[in-house]
Amino acid sequence: MSIARCHLLLLLLSTWDCVGIHVVNGLENGLARTPPMGWMPFERFRCVTDCVRFPKDCISERLIRRTANLLVSEGYAAAGYRYLIIDDCWMEASRDMATHELLPSEDRFPSGMRNLGNYIHSKGLLFGIYHDLGERTCMFQGPGAARHFNLDARTFANWGVDYVKMDGCFASESELDQGYPEFGRALNHTGRPMVYSCSWPYYKARPDFKLIAQHCNLWRFAQDIQDSMASVTNIMMQYSKKQTELAAHAGPGRWNDPDMVWIRPVTPVSNFGKKSFAIAFLNLGGFAECPLCPQVYKVQLYRLGLNSRRGYNVMDLFNRSHNFGLYKPKDSFSTRINPEGVTFYKFSVLPPKG
Ligand SMILES: *[C@@H]1O[C@H](CO)[C@@H](O)[C@H](O)[C@H]1NC(C)=O
Ligand SMILES: *[C@@H]1O[C@H](CO)[C@@H](O)[C@H](O)[C@H]1NC(C)=O
Repeated sequence: MSIARCHLLLLLLSTWDCVGIHVVNGLENGLARTPPMGWMPFERFRCVTDCVRFPKDCISERLIRRTANLLVSEGYAAAGYRYLIIDDCWMEASRDMATHELLPSEDRFPSGMRNLGNYIHSKGLLFGIYHDLGERTCMFQGPGAARHFNLDARTFANWGVDYVKMDGCFASESELDQGYPEFGRALNHTGRPMVYSCSWPYYKARPDFKLIAQHCNLWRFAQDIQDSMASVTNIMMQYSKKQTELAAHAGPGRWNDPDMVWIRPVTPVSNFGKKSFAIAFLNLGGFAECPLCPQVYKVQLYRLGLNSRRGYNVMDLFNRSHNFGLYKPKDSFSTRINPEGVTFYKFSVLPPKG
């Protein structure tokens, strides 16, 4: 990959935490003072519902419990990834005949959602759930919230839900404009604080971000992230193109949501304020001479901004037993990257001599 491309991506990543400078009135439910962080299954597990053929991959309480355990044991919870959010495909196809309540799939969530919520809470995590404002959910499996806003908000509150991701399939633009604020009021009336994530702008030709920020804690403006560099880059480009407009509406309680991309400060920091870095090297492919060839990328550390004179200990984050040892700013680091592939290293700054 070329240096220009590499720098471009690093730069764009850093725009994610440059938001939140303007003061705008937003949804005041006291939540999401910082951008909520957590885990959602969709990018990896999609809408797999066949637990006989795919017992480990199907959307089920087993998957959610396993993930809850891993969020804690692998250190993600301690790093702030506290929301465990069940995405689409958790529902039965029809509501309860008598009460009209939403029903979790009986085969895949046999213990029920309140029970699962208790388990998530017992791990010190927060419980999120997917719903859709229209007639059906996006993957066609379950009933949407149409005509049942108050009931569904109460159901979620009863289950101990802390975060609602509200999708916008099978609803017209005017239904979305009315529905998102109305469902927000239904959530508020339950008395249980729940983060309200809206896919509203994604479904609008010209989203009114000012209005959206008044009713939602965060909002999706781009496509679902997919398992490819092309997808990540595309979402970054959309964000950077609209950055001025988007950033003006972000702040505590109201955030632009670029889907499942994350960034956070990396420790340790040296006594001179030099930081450590986690750096992903991406091969965007498409090189004229050989579009599908792996590329070797070689760079001196200082050219990436790593200029602590004592140097950096370099470790492969995809293989922690692979330690590259000490690199000084003028040393060259090289990495071989498959097409559309990623390598990922931690450059830990050395503390000053004691
Ligand atoms: C409901 O809205 C009021 C007014 O904005 C706010 O003070 C309160 O915290 C909200 N309650 C919940 C549970 O979201
Ligand atoms: C991880 O790195 C170690 C040490 O370099 C190496 O022996 C091992 O094969 C690597 N594992 C994988 C899965 O690449």
